[in-house]
Amino acid sequence: MNTNNIPVITIDGPSASGKGTIAQLVAHQLGFHYLDSGALYRLVALKTMQLKADMQNSGQLAEIARNLNVIFKDEQIYLDDKIVTDDIRTEQCGIAASQLAAYPQVRAALTERQRAFRQLPGLVTDGRDMGSVIFPDADLKIYLTASAEVRAQRRHKQLIEKGMSANITDLLQDIQKRDERDSNRSIAPLQQEADAKLLETTSLTITQAQDAVLSWYNDIFAKTRV
Ligand code: DC
Repeated sequence: MNTNNIPVITIDGPSASGKGTIAQLVAHQLGFHYLDSGALYRLVALKTMQLKADMQNSGQLAEIARNLNVIFKDEQIYLDDKIVTDDIRTEQCGIAASQLAAYPQVRAALTERQRAFRQLPGLVTDGRDMGSVIFPDADLKIYLTASAEVRAQRRHKQLIEKGMSANITDLLQDIQKRDERDSNRSIAPLQQEADAKLLETTSLTITQAQDAVLSWYNDIFAKTRV
């Protein structure tokens, strides 16, 4: 089936910017599917740690990525039939995900798995390269960001709500390191593409950010209907 006509909204941006929250809310509002592409990289990291595999062996990491036995269902993530929704949210998993995401073979192994989420009636997806590499023909591309300090506070709140321990100073350092690694890698680096709209959320509420995305989407939808 040709899925190229199925609408896609991509929301790329740095770590802890809140893009996942906004993407999920917009998907819910439009009745679209949702893909958290960062979760896939985190799942590869978790599986690699479970297997005690070598984080430098790109061939083996790609093999793990290709064979991931994962199911996204009812807001839960299952790896090998076990719920790992919270396990993949640790900083350790995020850092390992960022490291292995720099290997082209790992990225290639996850490409088709991500594109398969493009199903009717539409898809909202978040990550680093959703608009640039995975869905270059997306209807609406957004680059969502916020200051590193505000992102550290958002991540802190998220981890505490999940009952995990967290320290703002350490989180800020992790975020800055992760920004640097994700932005400077040679393949699919994090950057605002020329055709992506900038959504600066440092002083926006969740509702304001959500409304901005919906209003852009409605504008595009209205134009294609004329
Ligand atoms: O969005 P996140 O923090 O859950 O993503 C974890 C890491 O995965 C991130 O630091 C870089 C990598 N990633 C990526 O390289 N490309 C994506 N599309 C999504 C995530």
